[in-house]
Amino acid sequence: MTRGKISRRMELMGHVWPIGGGKGGSGKSFLTSSLGRLSAAMGKRTLLIDLDLGAANLHTLVDVPYPKKCFSDFIRKKIPLLEDTVIETPVENLYLISGAHDNLDIANLPYEQKIKTLKAISRLDYDHILLDLGAGTSFNTLDFFLISENGIFVTTPEPTSIENVYRLIRSIYFRRMRQYFTVTDFKTLEQRVDETFGGGSLNKPECMMRVIRDRYADVYARLADDFKRFRFRLAVNQLRKHDSPDLGRQICRIIEKHLALQVDFAGNIAFDDHVHDAICARVSFLDRYPYTKTAVDLRQLGKSIVQTSGQQLQIHYS
Ligand SMILES: Nc1ncnc2c1ncn2[C@@H]1O[C@H](COP(=O)(O)OP(=O)(O)OP(=O)(O)O)[C@@H](O)[C@H]1O
Ligand SMILES: [Mg+2]
Repeated sequence: MTRGKISRRMELMGHVWPIGGGKGGSGKSFLTSSLGRLSAAMGKRTLLIDLDLGAANLHTLVDVPYPKKCFSDFIRKKIPLLEDTVIETPVENLYLISGAHDNLDIANLPYEQKIKTLKAISRLDYDHILLDLGAGTSFNTLDFFLISENGIFVTTPEPTSIENVYRLIRSIYFRRMRQYFTVTDFKTLEQRVDETFGGGSLNKPECMMRVIRDRYADVYARLADDFKRFRFRLAVNQLRKHDSPDLGRQICRIIEKHLALQVDFAGNIAFDDHVHDAICARVSFLDRYPYTKTAVDLRQLGKSIVQTSGQQLQIHYS
């Protein structure tokens, strides 16, 4: 029988929103801090967790001076409860677990520590929990993204950023698939895919899924169900005047065509030089420049996200 790492589901206490993007600088942290501020302003107890391990900087975006405690204190067992690493921010209802002390050696969390972290996050009692994830496709990023079904991807309109976000989504797709198999079963699956479709087919989700459907019907049913339940969304950030406002929808269509995975277009966020000014002045962009198109876009995105958060999410882990 095929048994992978997914053996249990658990209700999350709050709504968890992982925010990721394949490329650095696309605006993940700016979006996380902005959505966090908006959620807090709506009276929701909101927690931001900086999981850009090794390159954390979210504290600066919510005007927290160098934090006294940090996520790594939990990993290194200096602070036994994740809840006790939470710090207050100057914004009412907005809390932070900072990653400021985290060194690069924490960037590759061993499996047990990752599971411990995922479980600890699931027990945190906040209305909204936003995870700022690192760029790239490390297993940490993929696993933290898969903690909930409500992940938000961020890309800029540049082809390099789109390429990387597509790669990230594909990696998440394969990671979820992989979680259903043991190491041995997955090797057998790969051999079968290779025998059936030939070289290069291991990179093609449709080939993998065809063999899973034919050989592992029970896994196929659960996996297909899983993929259907995801409500991933894509935001296009730093959209300039000459960029097509339809780009996000086009990317979502491509993802659906090639991965059979529905990713909804969440909206565009306009480019504005004042974002830089606000970050340098360590002030809230939304408060300082509330009438800009970018602020309007952010508020619209924030509203649509809060509206869809009526349903309780679930966490998957072994
Ligand atoms: N809508 C926007 N308009 C103008 N500039 C923006 C916008 N969003 C983000 N930026 C700029 O892009 C820079 C990078 O944003 P941010 O730090 O949020 O990216 P990131 O994806 O978190 O990067 P990293 O992967 O390095 O952590 C910011 O410092 C800011 O100056
Ligand atoms: Mg960042």
